[in-house]
Amino acid sequence: VSESELNPSPSGHRQPPTRRDRWEKKWRSRAGPQFHWYLSEPPPELVELTSGSNIPAGGALDLGCGPGVATEHIARSFRPAVGVDMVFAAVTEARDLVRSRGEKASFVVAEAPVLPFRAQAFGLVFDRGCLQAIPRTSWAIYFREVERLLKPGGMLQLYVSKAAREFPPLLSAYGIKLRLRWLRGKRGGPQFLSPDAIRRLIPSSMAEVELRQFPFRTSEGKTRNVTYGLFRKA
Ligand SMILES: C[S@@+](CC[C@H](N)C(=O)[O-])C[C@H]1O[C@@H](n2cnc3c(N)ncnc32)[C@H](O)[C@@H]1O
Repeated sequence: VSESELNPSPSGHRQPPTRRDRWEKKWRSRAGPQFHWYLSEPPPELVELTSGSNIPAGGALDLGCGPGVATEHIARSFRPAVGVDMVFAAVTEARDLVRSRGEKASFVVAEAPVLPFRAQAFGLVFDRGCLQAIPRTSWAIYFREVERLLKPGGMLQLYVSKAAREFPPLLSAYGIKLRLRWLRGKRGGPQFLSPDAIRRLIPSSMAEVELRQFPFRTSEGKTRNVTYGLFRKA
């Protein structure tokens, strides 16, 4: 089946690629470990959360699970453990990794922020790198959806990141371009998911346990600023 048959347009013109098309293209060209954001081990904050005495009860959702490294770790402590990614190739890779390590998790291909799960289905929602891939205009919907999916006492563990470069001066072509992208709800901008931006978005029923920034060195040797947050639903 050709791409145009799968993605027909009434006028016969090619449709502009969607976000999903762009992520599917990335996943066609490489495997998980070849992405610059890849971590071969679960992040230390997740390991700390699952090794403490305060583990939220219930199942866990790994949102934008990618190659499944965090899903596999989550599956050791939560039933059910569910990985969601909007790319089939990512979910397949994650499923194979979890199986190869003898753990059990379920996988769903779906596009956040709207997710096919019942309210209060999970004790933990883990997200490393998914929220930042969603348009800014849908961030409030994302947080409402996470709040809907969590049980009372459930937690959101969230990592978002952006390239650690100075925002270019306003009076430069690049500075204007980045600000226009920001106004159109695209990525980038000085307030891109900063702790304050997240504080403005998070529903009042979700109490802040931790919210801080730290640098992350990618496999390409570039630095990204990570905003890390842990929130508990009342
Ligand atoms: C930066 S990667 C992080 C992958 C994984 N969480 C990790 O830490 O290794 C983001 C992942 O989210 C997926 N993704 C992007 N937008 C999404 C959306 N709206 N809904 C579900 N998955 C999405 C991508 O396909 C990709 O696998």
